[in-house]
Amino acid sequence: MNSDAIRPTTWATFKGQEDSVLKIRMALDSAKMRKQPLGHVLISGPAGTGKTTFVNIIAADTGHKLTLATGISLRKDTEFFELLKSAAVTGQHAILFIDEIHAIPPASQDNLLTLMEDGRISVRKDGKPQVFALAPNTHVTIVGATTNPGKLNKPVYERFDHKLVFSPYTVSELVDVVKFTVSRLDAITKITDEAALEIAKRSKGVARVATKLAKACQDTAVLKDRKVIDRKVTDATFQIHDIDEYGLSTKVDTKVLKYLFLSYPKPVGIESMAQLIDEDPQQLLGVVEPQLFKLEFIIRQRGGRVITQKGIAYLRSKGVINELDEQTALHEVVS
Ligand SMILES: Nc1ncnc2c1ncn2[C@@H]1O[C@H](COP(=O)(O)OP(=O)(O)O)[C@@H](O)[C@H]1O
Ligand SMILES: [Mg+2]
Repeated sequence: MNSDAIRPTTWATFKGQEDSVLKIRMALDSAKMRKQPLGHVLISGPAGTGKTTFVNIIAADTGHKLTLATGISLRKDTEFFELLKSAAVTGQHAILFIDEIHAIPPASQDNLLTLMEDGRISVRKDGKPQVFALAPNTHVTIVGATTNPGKLNKPVYERFDHKLVFSPYTVSELVDVVKFTVSRLDAITKITDEAALEIAKRSKGVARVATKLAKACQDTAVLKDRKVIDRKVTDATFQIHDIDEYGLSTKVDTKVLKYLFLSYPKPVGIESMAQLIDEDPQQLLGVVEPQLFKLEFIIRQRGGRVITQKGIAYLRSKGVINELDEQTALHEVVS
């Protein structure tokens, strides 16, 4: 099954992010009443918190054509020009969704700004700059999503009419996400409250993690020939997928923690942590780290992250570090 089937497609089924939903629905209603295009929207937030889902619902609400692009693919003026050509509908309003919008190189962000300000872009053709403008009554609303808004040029950032910030989901919101996801699965569509809560607690505040775990539970249930996802199914799934009661896994989280422990008290930089678990730094910043911060297993320091006593106690309780490790680590501190 494709992941689109479990994406909410209406405001009623989109869980959490209530502030952002409220703000954008007011903006959408007002734009409709004024018969004006929706202002430009910037959505900032960690990976898997529903940004893409939200943009699809905006587009469905307006009924406007939606074109998808990613910041990484917009390195040259000409790429921007081609994209704009395919996004715009003469005499109508359209929406251009640029995912990871901060990845547009700073120099190319100038084009984004002129497009947002007055529907123009400047393209070098045969070495000469040429200006292209959208046709009269034609408008393209830019909706940008980013895990890293700080990388946008200040004027571009400021130009967005609606700046929305997506935050981690609460456990009770994640229970709703899990239940909604399960209702949309193809083989198993029932889950007990208890099982939904167990999944939510291990989802690290991230909707995508919750949906992935729900899908993994479906697989277990199918294989075990069960009709409902209950506590037995979730327990078996967490065991197979190496997820503990905090939602942490030995392949990722404990590996990071052990590395921090062995480096203690020297802070470890993001890049080396990302390399260690073979993940990109954004995933680390967006999904892995927030949970470790929340659990107070690590803290921020100049130059990187440092494990806390709580983090060390966790490693000990899991048998990840033994006395020998502790002596070695201690030795490094003393010398
Ligand atoms: N608010 C939500 N309510 C229910 N499910 C959600 C919600 N947000 C995200 N999801 C689920 O999580 C998955 C990842 O969301 P997505 O929009 O791709 O996140 P992002 O674009 O922020 O990385 C989606 O496929 C969807 O099934
Ligand atoms: Mg996305």
